[in-house]
Amino acid sequence: MSVVVAIGAQWGDEGKGKVIDVLAEQAKFVVRFSGGDNAGHTIVNPFGKFALQLVPSGIFYPTATCIIGNGVAVNPAVLIAEMDMLNSHGIATDTLVISDRANMIMPYHVLLDRLEEQARGGGAIGTTGKGIGPVFSDKLARYGIRFGDLLDRTAFRERLGAMLDIKNRLLTKVYGAEPLSLEGVYQQYLGYAERLAPHIQDATVLIDEAIARGDNVLLEGAQGTLLDPDFGTYPYGTSSPSVAGQGSVGAGIGPTKINRVIGVFKAYITRVGAGPMPTVLTEAVGQAMRDRGHEFGTVSGRPRNCGWFDAVAARYATLVNGLTGAAITKLDVLDTQPTVKACVAYRLDGKTIDYFPSRITDVARCEPVYEEFPGWQTPLNDVRRFADLPLKARRYLRRLAELIGAPIVLVGVGQERRQTIEVKSVW
Ligand code: GDP
Ligand code: IMO
Ligand code: MG
Repeated sequence: MSVVVAIGAQWGDEGKGKVIDVLAEQAKFVVRFSGGDNAGHTIVNPFGKFALQLVPSGIFYPTATCIIGNGVAVNPAVLIAEMDMLNSHGIATDTLVISDRANMIMPYHVLLDRLEEQARGGGAIGTTGKGIGPVFSDKLARYGIRFGDLLDRTAFRERLGAMLDIKNRLLTKVYGAEPLSLEGVYQQYLGYAERLAPHIQDATVLIDEAIARGDNVLLEGAQGTLLDPDFGTYPYGTSSPSVAGQGSVGAGIGPTKINRVIGVFKAYITRVGAGPMPTVLTEAVGQAMRDRGHEFGTVSGRPRNCGWFDAVAARYATLVNGLTGAAITKLDVLDTQPTVKACVAYRLDGKTIDYFPSRITDVARCEPVYEEFPGWQTPLNDVRRFADLPLKARRYLRRLAELIGAPIVLVGVGQERRQTIEVKSVW
């Protein structure tokens, strides 16, 4: 039995959805533990193509119970729409569990996210506008409203009234926006409660029992290490922890129970939203990666900046997450490149450095130092075994594993579930 955490090891969109969809075949539980509907996890499998924002990517296996953990902030309307969408494709969601400790995204969180972004002007973060900053600040400020609160109508109305008193003052007096009506929001959320109540449970008990039985448990991260509030390019990142440690906190599992930590990396790197990225490519190569890799935001549709693999950032991700394995996705996107590069150090103010700076003003000034590899220039989409990859692709992967400092467990060679090379079992 194993408890495995899979996290994004770059700036998000590394292909976590696909990797979880592959690994979940052997899991009894799949638990999302961070973020909210800012996430967009794309899955292409025999059931179709899906972009999941809240439901764990293990939902396609009737053998896996899916849990939305306490570390996730959930917009109930988005969750219900996602469940309806899955049901319309014949995917059952009746065993989906929502932690009673998960915070709810309220209408004022979404409004405030947009108003705060406008107020930041040129310093805007480029958020997804889903209310993420406001909901996680409220959680820590102890202004949150949780799913458990929905189950007691009287207490919920009281809590909502107290919060609206504060938020309406902020909306009207600071931002000059319209106030929200208590009755309106209350009735709206009672409607959500009616639909979601059967799913709301104390998830920690369920997971604890699963671990005691020896079931395989897969913990699904959102966003990526470089968007993490502590370790990312602060303040250009997200508002909930996206590193592996959150797997413990956001699912309610003691850290001693976690056996393995898998970092998901693209074979290159992308970023959406504002903030520096040392290996960004503005010329034709970056454009080719965007076109071949369909690098447009799953949630927002915004074009993603593309660049060569950043091994300095990757080693840093290994360090802060304690990676025991790496999943490398989208290797096929590099199939046509005559030369492939990886950044192995930065030049900063005339010095060569091999660490990821903590200040974004430093990150923004870092110039990449590249190692070059001959491209394999062969389509990889049909390869299923590591040994069948062209020698040049194997050499690139072996060097990536060395630079990352963790063995490769899985390689992605296409969007579909089956377009995967399983190098080493994570279970
Ligand atoms: P996530 O947020 O980490 O789950 O990643 P996204 O779903 O936002 O973005 C990853 C994109 O790459 C999606 O469109 C996936 O379908 C796609 N993808 C994942 N793995 C592979 C792969 O190995 N090859 C190719 N070509 N596409 C992949
Ligand atoms: P997945 O799980 C990529 C980025 C946004 C923005 C910043 C803050 O699909 O990998 P937020 O709405 O969280 O306040 O936005 O973080 N961002 C993501 N980028 N993938 C994601 O999730 C992201 N979630 C947030 O673009 O730059
Ligand atoms: Mg995504």
